[in-house]
Amino acid sequence: MQSFKISPHIHLAASCGEFCQEFQVGEGDLLFASRRTQEHYLQGLGQGAIRVDYRDFGTGEPTDKMVEGIAAALAGQEYKRVIAIGGGTILDVAKLFALQQLLPIDRLFQQEIQPRKKCELVLVPTTCGTGSEMTNISILSLTSLSTKMGLDHDALYADHAVLIPELLQGLPDKAFGASAIDALIHAMESFTSPRATAFTQMFSLQAMDWIIRGFQDMAAQGKAAREKHLEKFLLASAYAGIAFGNAGCAAVHALSYPLGAAKHVPHGEANAVMLLPVYRLYQEKRYDGSLRELCQHLAMLLDCPETTVWSRLEELLSVILNWKKLSGYGVTEAELADFAAVVMTKQKRLMANNYVTLTRADVDRIYKELC
Ligand SMILES: [Fe+2]
Repeated sequence: MQSFKISPHIHLAASCGEFCQEFQVGEGDLLFASRRTQEHYLQGLGQGAIRVDYRDFGTGEPTDKMVEGIAAALAGQEYKRVIAIGGGTILDVAKLFALQQLLPIDRLFQQEIQPRKKCELVLVPTTCGTGSEMTNISILSLTSLSTKMGLDHDALYADHAVLIPELLQGLPDKAFGASAIDALIHAMESFTSPRATAFTQMFSLQAMDWIIRGFQDMAAQGKAAREKHLEKFLLASAYAGIAFGNAGCAAVHALSYPLGAAKHVPHGEANAVMLLPVYRLYQEKRYDGSLRELCQHLAMLLDCPETTVWSRLEELLSVILNWKKLSGYGVTEAELADFAAVVMTKQKRLMANNYVTLTRADVDRIYKELC
């Protein structure tokens, strides 16, 4: 039986000020926001809220250690609502603080603790990539297991997702490109997932259209052209979040996680590394069904024949973001076997959504080709 769910109430606000006023952000709130976000968008707003900047607790992608550090700092403080304004890292971490029990964190992620919601959760993205505001998933690097892991449970859904295009304005080019490519990959992986439905594919296709059209404009007019498309990029990220929240992501994410965890490569960039090799291998193994529909749709958007769709996509994406071969991130050939082992043992949740089954030999081959 198929099912489809969109859980949060979705709001579109013109500014952070409008959001803070509408939601009466302040006393009783636990507010996750970076210092930059606080300085640029929250001056004089949200007075009385308990504020957390996750960068006080570690750098880079979210880890179990960061969550433990924040929990220790908050010990004894009461809050009635969790509000997070930030990128995927901040949203994913904040989701855990709306639960009754989040420690020990490794036991929560290995599903030895049943997640239960404690308070209302409001998520406001400042990037156009993760779609985390729409999903019931939290992704953390578990240092004890040397990989990223996802926890998906309905207790992690936001009660409210608030989209504010002005928050994307100050994003550096690299962060913007990496997050928008991440959203494109969410749309593609959910489209070809065996769990895709007519509902999820509708959201995937619309997300791809907005992102590719935005990228084409940026390629033609320069990166500043993105300003005209900010609302569409933000909507595309949320649409792709709805799609993958229901149909799942797959091998691109699974293969990127060991790279992200071992070499601290940002999530969207690590995904960009894996995207084309994974889809070229799918196509080599079986070219039909939703994979063929995806290629036809991308060929239409990219105005090229189906046979050249991956090279045309690569050409377009490389204007938006620079990525490297694995060796460029300091990955040695000796590490590849460990990466592949982690994918096959710790990322079964994602690998189950592959368009065609990828074996250990397939994963070894992709990593080898990329080194
Ligand atoms: Fe992602």
